[in-house]
Amino acid sequence: MAKRLELTPRLRLLADWVPQGAKLADVGTDHAYLPVWLTVHGRVSSAIASDLRQGPLQRAAEHCRLYGAETVDCRLAPGLEAVSPEEADTVVIAGMGGETIASILADAPWTADGAHTLLLQPMTHAEELRRFLMDHGYSIRREALVYDRGTIYPVMEVTAGEMTLTEGQLWGGAKLLRDPLGDRYLIEKIIRLQGAVAGLNRSGVEKDRAEADRLRDILTALLEMREEWRHDNGT
Ligand SMILES: C[S@@+](CC[C@H](N)C(=O)[O-])C[C@H]1O[C@@H](n2cnc3c(N)ncnc32)[C@H](O)[C@@H]1O
Repeated sequence: MAKRLELTPRLRLLADWVPQGAKLADVGTDHAYLPVWLTVHGRVSSAIASDLRQGPLQRAAEHCRLYGAETVDCRLAPGLEAVSPEEADTVVIAGMGGETIASILADAPWTADGAHTLLLQPMTHAEELRRFLMDHGYSIRREALVYDRGTIYPVMEVTAGEMTLTEGQLWGGAKLLRDPLGDRYLIEKIIRLQGAVAGLNRSGVEKDRAEADRLRDILTALLEMREEWRHDNGT
C-alpha cells in the first residue's frame, strides 16, 4: 500500500490555492510533495514536476512511486523550459529566492498571457519579486502569510494585469493589511531594515549614505503600514 503524505503548512496553503481540476506545473519541485499530494487527493487533472537538477528530480520520481502518484510527469529542465503554455493552467514556483522566481517568469513571458494562474512563494527578496510583477504586466490577486517551523512566508496568487504598488507595499506586502500575521511580518522587515541602516550609517562612503537614506524612506513607509494594520485589526 502507498505511504501517506502530510504537507507542511507552507505547502498546504499552496495546495489549497490550486483550483480543483487544475493542469499543474510545479517548477523547482525538489521532493515533489505538492504535485504528489494534489494527485493523490484527486485535486488536479494533470501534474508536471520539473527541476533544474538531477538529484531532486530523482527524489521527485521516487516520491511519486512511494506515495502512489505515478501519473506525475517529472521533467529535468531550468525554469519553465520543458513546459509548454497549453500543458498547464496553474504554475507553482515555490521555495526559491524572489529574484530566481522573477527570472524564471521573465524567461517564459507566456505566463503573463492571462490564461495562467501563478502561485508564487519566495523564500527571500519578496520585494524584488513584487517589483518585477508590477513592472512586467502581472497583478497580485491574493496574498497571504503562512507560519511554518519558525518562519513567516508570503504566498501570492498572480495573474496578468495592471498593478501599482507603493514602496511600502513592495516591501510589506500587497494585500496583507487584514492578514493575522501581517503585524509580525512588518516587524521582521522593520528590524531587518533598521539593522541595514545602522550598518550603512557607520560607513564613510557617500553611496552607502545614499542607500541608508533610501532604506530610511522604506522604513517610514513600513512603520505607517504597521499603524494602518493595527488600526484595521483593532489592536
Ligand atoms: C528549496 S527547493 C523548493 C522545493 C519546493 N518547491 C518547495 O517549495 O518546498 C528549491 C528547488 O528549486 C530548484 N531550482 C532552483 N532554481 C531553479 C530553476 N531556475 N529552475 C528549476 N528549478 C530550480 C532546486 O534544484 C531545488 O530543487
